Amino acid sequence: MVSVSINGRNVVLHSPADTPLLWALRCEHQLTGTKFGCGIGVCGACTVLLDNVAKPACQTALSAIGQAHVVTIEGLDSAEARALKKAWLEYDVVQCGYCQSAQLIAATALLYRHRHPTDADIDDAMKEIACRCGTFPRIRKAIHAAAQSLGP
Ligand code: FES
Ligand code: FES
Repeated sequence: MVSVSINGRNVVLHSPADTPLLWALRCEHQLTGTKFGCGIGVCGACTVLLDNVAKPACQTALSAIGQAHVVTIEGLDSAEARALKKAWLEYDVVQCGYCQSAQLIAATALLYRHRHPTDADIDDAMKEIACRCGTFPRIRKAIHAAAQSLGP
């Protein structure tokens, strides 16, 4: 049993301590917005926030979480995240949608670090999240728009 903070609530997870966080989120708590893509840390579809840093949940054992706060797409509700979601709609970013939870999580982590990221900052922050639909040009525009809407 492991006690973890998920989306602002302390929850008990019954999976063994070496279980990847991804499976505990999806199977124990039905937080299915976090997607399974590759399971080996290369696609980024499972990205969540750990203390506001984007991390692949398939590569994060429950035992490694400790006191860190986990935020999934279901609990992503900061000012930065709201600005990004609005911009995502304005720029019609989503295509099939499979990667988009992770894209929003990674974009939010980026705006926590850089309130006004450059194209290079965006490319660097988003490079771990694959999108087979090629939405990246719209993602970049949406991140710039969200950053601008947040002010200085
Ligand atoms: S499912 Fe975790 S990186 Fe692909
Ligand atoms: S929107 Fe389809 S994989 Fe990214």
